Amino acid sequence: MRVCGIVGYVGHRPALDVVLDGLRRLEYRGYDSAGVAVIADGGLAVERKAGRLANLEARLDEVGRDGFAGTAGMGHTRWATHGAPVDRNSHPHRDVSGRVAVVHNGIIENFIALRAELEAAGIEFASDTDSETAAHLVARAYAEGDTAGDLPASVRGVCRRLEGAFTLVVTHADEPDLIVAARRSSPLVVGIGEGETFVASDVAAFIEHTREAVELGQDQLVVITRAGYEVVDFHGETAPVKPFTVDWDLSAAEKGGHEYFMLKEIDEQPTALADTLRGHFVGGRIVLDEQRLSDQDLRDVDKVFVVACGSAYHSGLVAKYAIEHWTRLPVEVELASEFRYRDPVLDRDTLVVAVSQSGETADTLEAVRHAREQKARVLAVCNTNGAQIPRESDAVLYTHAGPEIGVASTKAFLAQIAANYLVGLALAQARGTKYPDEVAREFHELEAMPEAVRRVLGCTARVQELGRELSDAKAVLFLGRHVGYPVALEGALKLKELAYMHAEGFAAGELKHGPIALIEPGLPVVVVMPSPKGRAVLHSKLVSNISEIQARGARTIVIAEEGDETVLPFADELIEVPAVPTLLQPLVSTVPLQILAAEIARSRGYDVDKPRNLAKSVTVE
Ligand code: F6R
Repeated sequence: MRVCGIVGYVGHRPALDVVLDGLRRLEYRGYDSAGVAVIADGGLAVERKAGRLANLEARLDEVGRDGFAGTAGMGHTRWATHGAPVDRNSHPHRDVSGRVAVVHNGIIENFIALRAELEAAGIEFASDTDSETAAHLVARAYAEGDTAGDLPASVRGVCRRLEGAFTLVVTHADEPDLIVAARRSSPLVVGIGEGETFVASDVAAFIEHTREAVELGQDQLVVITRAGYEVVDFHGETAPVKPFTVDWDLSAAEKGGHEYFMLKEIDEQPTALADTLRGHFVGGRIVLDEQRLSDQDLRDVDKVFVVACGSAYHSGLVAKYAIEHWTRLPVEVELASEFRYRDPVLDRDTLVVAVSQSGETADTLEAVRHAREQKARVLAVCNTNGAQIPRESDAVLYTHAGPEIGVASTKAFLAQIAANYLVGLALAQARGTKYPDEVAREFHELEAMPEAVRRVLGCTARVQELGRELSDAKAVLFLGRHVGYPVALEGALKLKELAYMHAEGFAAGELKHGPIALIEPGLPVVVVMPSPKGRAVLHSKLVSNISEIQARGARTIVIAEEGDETVLPFADELIEVPAVPTLLQPLVSTVPLQILAAEIARSRGYDVDKPRNLAKSVTVE
């Protein structure tokens, strides 16, 4: 099982360069191993290496790149869950003759039976992977029978035999002018250039060369050549496709002078918020991007579930406060991986909001499918145009955060909060629980947030300095109340995943029910304060919580509204954020926590953009 980056190319440039550049931009999808195959000199030149792409490049320098002088090729970066990330399990995998190469993302569920069949026919496997079966099957289909000498037909036949989720890219040394790719489940896009065509798991791989793209649907196969592409289903029938133009360019996918992507993406948050809000308040009304639901359907909603994973789940926890307040509808927020296994009570009046940056997270996708089977309506909040989750939903609201390359979510998280709020306002508008002028006011308050976040970014250097001081801490606790509680959870998640440091977020009121026992002298505790004006009662309760932990020797790091003097005696470190309405506070208070986690990780010597054991899109359950 794996989540991987895939790229294929047929054109007029050196394929090795195009493929390596593409892999560099896809490395966020997995970095356990990398490999390339280029059709050259009547054969296939292949190199693969465990570890990061840099290892593969070093290996290519060692063996020399002369053998790779072709203009058709493909590559892969792998995130392994089964099978050690060693050279022999790295992609591309070849058949016995070495003339067929395959890269694969997903899992071939019936591979044990297929492997047994191939071994019984005398084929020796060179790896422990399920993917290698596809190489042998394609080679056999191309060598004999009805599909002999026809690579697309051979791949189609093999796809019909494979069970599970897979994206495959296949080359054959006998077919130097084409590459075949197939999709079931994990994403695949075609890039259309002048005299060159690309396939990749993500447009970032080819955005340098073209912004014209086509997203492949489920069970579709594409043949790419220099002249263009042809999409068919697994039975060879022409399949409908949806062309689109990518609305961001290469600079969005590059670091632009920042030391790492995550810092660039933290800095891009004001723009991400503004772009997410743009165009959603038209003629005094909130509008979604795609709505295959009637207004009556929205009016009939009697319960909302937000389903998501990780940071996206935290964005849902934030939104619950706003949606319940604005709509008076009960809102449950649930981890997508738990949702469908506990028989949630769903019917056609339930609105399930599926939040996913990638739009391809397997747990969230399965939750969407489960909800739709139970007749619930599904609204996707997604950052990736045309991804599977929005395709399978009844309505869509896109976050326009642009490509997020750093594995830890930052700008997508803030954009998700803003989009979830738009969903809440759309529901309030449809149900009439807010007057139009109230909806307008809430929207305009949201519109002021990009500027507020820009001001918070002014604290970057100061928070980084604090991060360096905390880099030796054994653990860090995060406390918050109300909308500050999910912010505390998000701050702890960032620190765990980036700095590999033990971190936990708590609802501050829970402290005395157990966690306070963790407090010991010197332990850093980050406290997310509410506004003293917005929710005075919460504020004073949190002030007592800080004084309790400070009395027990904790080092308190307080995120508080500018001018909040009551916290001064209790704050060993104070990070000030601008005053904003209560429900919007997470948009400002999360930002210092992102910067803090990134800097602690950097000063501990870790790769901020590619934390260990993680991948950006988790297309396995
Ligand atoms: C944490 C992080 C993950 C993702 C989660 C969901 O920084 O990035 O927790 O938020 O894997 O991913 P999407 O939003 O793509 O469904």
